[in-house]
Amino acid sequence: MDSRSRDTALSTEERAAIDVVLAPSSSGRSDGGFTRSQHDLLLPALHALNDRVGWISEAALDYLSRRLTLSAAEVFGVASSCALFSLRPRPRRVLHVCAGPACRATGSTTLCRTLERRLGPADRPAGGVIWQRSPCLGLCERAPAALVLEAGEPQRTAVSAPSTVDATISVALDLRRARPEPPAAAAVPRSGGENLVLLRRIGQVDPASLSDYLNTGGYTALHHALRLGQAEILRLVRESGLPSRDGAGAPVARSWEVLASQPETPHYLVCDADETHPAAFADRVLLEGDPFAVVEAMTIAAIATGSRHGYLHLRGEYPRAYQTITEAVAQAREKGLLGRNILGSGHSFDLEIRRGGGAYPGRRGESRGMPPFPAEPVLLGKPAITHSVETLIAIPPLLTGLPTGTRLYCATGIFRRPGVYELPRGTTLGRLLAVAGGAVTGRTPRAALINGTLTRPLHLDRPLPAAGPGSVVLLDEERDR
Ligand code: FES
Repeated sequence: MDSRSRDTALSTEERAAIDVVLAPSSSGRSDGGFTRSQHDLLLPALHALNDRVGWISEAALDYLSRRLTLSAAEVFGVASSCALFSLRPRPRRVLHVCAGPACRATGSTTLCRTLERRLGPADRPAGGVIWQRSPCLGLCERAPAALVLEAGEPQRTAVSAPSTVDATISVALDLRRARPEPPAAAAVPRSGGENLVLLRRIGQVDPASLSDYLNTGGYTALHHALRLGQAEILRLVRESGLPSRDGAGAPVARSWEVLASQPETPHYLVCDADETHPAAFADRVLLEGDPFAVVEAMTIAAIATGSRHGYLHLRGEYPRAYQTITEAVAQAREKGLLGRNILGSGHSFDLEIRRGGGAYPGRRGESRGMPPFPAEPVLLGKPAITHSVETLIAIPPLLTGLPTGTRLYCATGIFRRPGVYELPRGTTLGRLLAVAGGAVTGRTPRAALINGTLTRPLHLDRPLPAAGPGSVVLLDEERDR
């Protein structure tokens, strides 16, 4: 098939979705005029297709391959590895029912069985909707959870969590029946309490308001960082010994100093908010409840590492977090807090938000390896570092003299009060259990999935991991519910 006949197989809607993401070729041809630097637009283009059309056709993959000068295998590899995408025609409305561990502990197995009886088997279209079992949706504190995505222009989304069969079917048939989502603070049982640093603004500010952020000490750290300059920021972070919350928990300063010293430019800063670990959702809560803090933290890290460009890699299943962080970035740009010559300082930094393709099905929940070592060209062939949201969000408190000895734990399963808890590093499971109100009445804790690893019997006096996603799913039996 030549390129012209392949292009006729491409629908107008598919072409429009892709062309919104990829700049038009100056030559007007579909197979040239783009350099390797456009390759990072593959995932955004796939999202645009999926959002608008609901699935990704062979013709669309082929068009993308030629527009981006990527091999068909590379394009197919990315498109086929993401749980949100479908390479087969399907209805525009897709009901994703979580089959992750927190949801299995709270009834999703029964929910799915009943859906099979009422809607038919999973992955089979019925009545304009298709339902499918999904990896963790990151709504674990409200388990069992379901998410409805309806393709179109614009895409529509609705959440049903905690989910019952009737509520889930009702929302799947008509998204307008979905109840409004609770605010981010509902996921922080101790919101507004004492001794919170990383979570101190959740529930205390309007996340869409830059004024609220400024009135609660926001951007004090950036002003301080601009006065200090790169070398002094690095010295402060090094002397603090601040550990990374991701990977192996190495000192943050180590990777910052290596990146800052790289002669090759540009340097890239990546914030990994693509929480693919089952039952981890703290990033979502931070991005929904305190998005300016993430923007400020990335800006300071960029100044310290000499990075002029950053990426925030966000989970595809987080439509509300996408909205809040997108609005925060826009407001920060408008006020000169992002972009060229930030606040007249001579420093420039801007960031792009990139959605991931959904948690990877079948991927074992476990701590990831070390972030990319910045001595190697790791992003677009250039030096880069990657940090989690939780690691970055500790930077402004560090520069303003607040304590940084805490970390976040995502308590789900049969905890009486599931949610995100900020506790001292080294906290034991027993302490988390006490703070979260113990177990649900009538259920006896017998095991836990901690950072994706099954622990049985429970050792209540052992410290929880200081790094990794901080997920703790409390279980009472091996059988799924
Ligand atoms: S939303 Fe179900 S396990 Fe996370």
